[in-house]
Amino acid sequence: MAARSKISVVGAGNVGATVAQYVVEKELGDVVLVDVIEGVPQGKALDLAQAGPIHGYDSRLTGTNSYDETTDSDVVVITAGLARKPGMTRDDLLFKNAEIVGGVVEQVVRRSKHAILILVTNPLDAMVQLAWKKSGFPPERVIGMAGLLDSARFRTFIAGELSVSVENVTAFVLGGHGDTMVPLPRYSTVAGVPITELLPKEKIDALVKRTANGGAEIVNLLKTGSAYYAPGASTVEMVEAILKDKKKILPCAAYLNGQYGVKGLYVGVPVKLGRGGVEQVIEIRLTPEEQAAFKRSADAVRELVEKLKL
Ligand SMILES: NC(=O)c1ccc[n+]([C@@H]2O[C@H](COP(=O)([O-])OP(=O)(O)OC[C@H]3O[C@@H](n4cnc5c(N)ncnc54)[C@H](O)[C@@H]3O)[C@@H](O)[C@H]2O)c1
Repeated sequence: MAARSKISVVGAGNVGATVAQYVVEKELGDVVLVDVIEGVPQGKALDLAQAGPIHGYDSRLTGTNSYDETTDSDVVVITAGLARKPGMTRDDLLFKNAEIVGGVVEQVVRRSKHAILILVTNPLDAMVQLAWKKSGFPPERVIGMAGLLDSARFRTFIAGELSVSVENVTAFVLGGHGDTMVPLPRYSTVAGVPITELLPKEKIDALVKRTANGGAEIVNLLKTGSAYYAPGASTVEMVEAILKDKKKILPCAAYLNGQYGVKGLYVGVPVKLGRGGVEQVIEIRLTPEEQAAFKRSADAVRELVEKLKL
């Protein structure tokens, strides 16, 4: 019998705890929850373990303030850091979270040399670039979660607008996480039919705008934090694709080495996710306008990364 997979989640806040919950509900493996706050990862792990008899999972849950328990993880999800408050951009978080994520990566990679790292902390594209540099890992084993969330939001809005099942809707989103993301309506479909055939341009533009602003919409409602259910679900879809070697095509922040005309930078693109991490960057043909929007998005990511002087 193969041992169970081990998934460590660093940062036991809203997103981290939700990731832990969805991971054990899907029985993807045992979970180690790490945080700097004493008692919080321990308490949440114990609480989640006690939901096991009801939900029927046997995954082991460990909460800790040290990294020793993360040794030999298969996947490490990094959510540690500060979340946005109203009026704050993801970029405001840059320097504070760079310090936190840099420290976390150092601790993690020393103990799990073969792990796949999934970054969630914002500003996402810059944090994943930093984690890759700090880890010394090959780029296919350091991946960022963003496009999946942006596309889940777009899918929700499209399904609502057309009053169809969310399961019938696929959405295609490229570029950096945030205001410069590039949704591609002509590759976004309902049961295979492009939404450009189903909705007028003004309607699509409005849905795109709401998607690009999707994180801020929730921050403004919650006031004390940012979204975590959909971010948690998106992250766990990546964990599942990796551990089950599904070869699933998902939009993620991946290292580009010339694809889409971008070199040496993490940006959101469709990738094939399997046990090796990013097994392929999927390149699709873009119209000149889409290519220009993608370039603007990548330039914004590069500008942020340059501030970090990696
Ligand atoms: N990529 C995305 O699409 C996406 C979506 C949602 C949230 N986020 C980001 O994820 C991060 C977490 O969001 P959240 O809502 O869970 O925030 P949160 O404040 O609820 O949780 C963050 C946790 O990190 C912990 N932490 C801080 N420093 C640490 C360290 N050095 N080591 C270990 N843990 C540490 C904190 O104690 C806290 O428990 C934020 O940066 C947020 O902006 C990204």
